[in-house]
Amino acid sequence: MTNPTGPGPLRLGIAGLGTVGTGVVKIIQRQAARLTARTGRDIVITAVGARSRDKDRGVRLGEYEWENDPVALATRDDVDVFVELVGGDTGPALEATRAALKAGKDVVTANKAMLAHHGQELAELAESKGSVLRFEAAVAGGIPVVKALTEGLAGNEMSRVMGVMNGTCNYILTRMESGGIGYNAVFAEAADLGYLEADPNLDVGGIDAGHKLALLAAIAFGTRVDFDNVTLEGIQRISIDDITQAADMGYRIKLLGVAQMTARGLEQRMTPCLVPTASPLGQLEGGTNMVVLEGDSVGQTVLRGAGAGMGPTASAVLSDVIDIARGTRLSTFGQPAHTLTVAKPANAPTPAPFYLRIRLQDKPGALAKIATVLGDAGISIDRMRQYDHKDSSAPVLIVTHKTTRDALDVALAGMAGTGVLVGDPVALRIEEV
Ligand SMILES: NC(=O)c1ccc[n+]([C@@H]2O[C@H](COP(=O)([O-])OP(=O)(O)OC[C@H]3O[C@@H](n4cnc5c(N)ncnc54)[C@H](OP(=O)(O)O)[C@@H]3O)[C@@H](O)[C@H]2O)c1
Repeated sequence: MTNPTGPGPLRLGIAGLGTVGTGVVKIIQRQAARLTARTGRDIVITAVGARSRDKDRGVRLGEYEWENDPVALATRDDVDVFVELVGGDTGPALEATRAALKAGKDVVTANKAMLAHHGQELAELAESKGSVLRFEAAVAGGIPVVKALTEGLAGNEMSRVMGVMNGTCNYILTRMESGGIGYNAVFAEAADLGYLEADPNLDVGGIDAGHKLALLAAIAFGTRVDFDNVTLEGIQRISIDDITQAADMGYRIKLLGVAQMTARGLEQRMTPCLVPTASPLGQLEGGTNMVVLEGDSVGQTVLRGAGAGMGPTASAVLSDVIDIARGTRLSTFGQPAHTLTVAKPANAPTPAPFYLRIRLQDKPGALAKIATVLGDAGISIDRMRQYDHKDSSAPVLIVTHKTTRDALDVALAGMAGTGVLVGDPVALRIEEV
C-alpha cells in the first residue's frame, strides 16, 4: 500500500478497451504491488469506457465506474490521468483529449494519428494548463524510443533518425522473400491474420509509419510536428523480382523512415529503400520494429523490439503512467511546445546510390543507350547485372553511384525516350545505414 505520508493514489480513467486498453488493465491488475513499489504510490483505475459495455473483454472490469462517453470519462473529478486508447485522428479521441487537458488532467495516449495532426496544439494546451501529455506507445509500440530521445540521448545534437516502424509492412516484405510469394498473396495472408488496419492503406501506404516518423523528427530536431511534409510511398509496387534481385546484389527492401536535418532543411521520408543485408536493419525479420538514432556524441544507437500488440503497447503506456506517478513531468516533445521551431522542408532528398530494375528489348546496342542516358545525366554506374531470359526482353539491374533524385528523374525520362525499354523502370533508393 501507499506510504501514508506520501502522495495519494494516482487515479486513471481509461477510454478504449480494445487491444491496448485491455492490455493496460491487465498490467495494472497483475503488477499492482510492483508499480506501487516503483513509484511510491498506488496506481488505480477509477473509470473505464468503450463503445459496448456488454462485450466480454477477458479482463475484470466490474470494480470500475463505466462511462460510454470519452469526454465524460476524461473530465471526471476522480480521474487524475486520462488514458486515451480509442484511436483516430479526430472524433472522440481528440475531443476527449482536449477536454481532459482543459480540465487540467494529465494525458497518456498511444494515438500517433491524432498527434501527427494535432500534436502542437495539444502540447501547447497541456503546457498552458500545467499538464503533461505523453505518447511513448504511439511510436514503435514497446520500444522505448520516445524516452531514448527525450531522456537518454537529450545531450546530443541528433543528425538522423531512421526506422522500420510498421510491423505489417516488414512482415509482408520478409514473408514475400522467405516464401517466394507475390505481394497480393502475402497481403491476403496478412489480412487473414488480422495484421492490417481497418483501412489497409494506413499500413501498406506508409501513412501509419509516416505519423510515427513525424513525431520522432519533432523530438529529435526540436521542430514542430510536420506530417504534411513527410514524403510517403507505400510497398504496393514492390515485386518478388525486386526482392530476390535486390537480395542477389546484397540488399533487402524495407519500408524505411528517415528524418534528417540537412543544410537544405528537414528531410522526412517513409519510402521503400534498399539496405545492406548485413546491416541491423537488413537483418530485421517479420513484424519486429527497429529504430536507429544518430547523435553527435553518442554515434549510432539501435533499438529493436515489438512494434505492436497488446503486451508491448501496454508496456509503453505504463511507462508514461509511471513517470507521472513518480512526478516526472517532461514536455510532450522534449522541450516546451512554444520553443519548437517551424522546420524548413528540404526541397530535395540527400543524394544516394539507387537501384534500378529495367527491362530492355533484346537487341544490339540497347544497353549502351541506357548507359549513355545515365552518363548524360551525370550518373555513373557502380554495378550492373543482366539476367538470363527466355522472352524477347532482358531484365537488367543497375546500382548507381551516389546521385540526386533530380538527376535520376532526368535519366528515367531519357530512358523512356530511347525506345529500348519494356515497361516502367523501378528505382529504389539505397540508404546508407
Ligand atoms: N494495437 C496495437 O498494437 C497498437 C500499437 C500502437 C499504438 N496503437 C494505438 O492505440 C490506440 C488503440 O488501438 P487498439 O488497437 O487498442 O484499438 P481497438 O482494439 O480498435 O480498440 C479501440 C477501443 O476504443 C473503443 N471506442 C471506439 N470508438 C469509441 C467511442 N466513440 N467511444 C468510446 N469508445 C470507443 C472501442 O470500443 P469497443 O471495444 O466497444 O468497440 C475499443 O474498445 C490507437 O490509437 C492505435 O493507433 C495500437
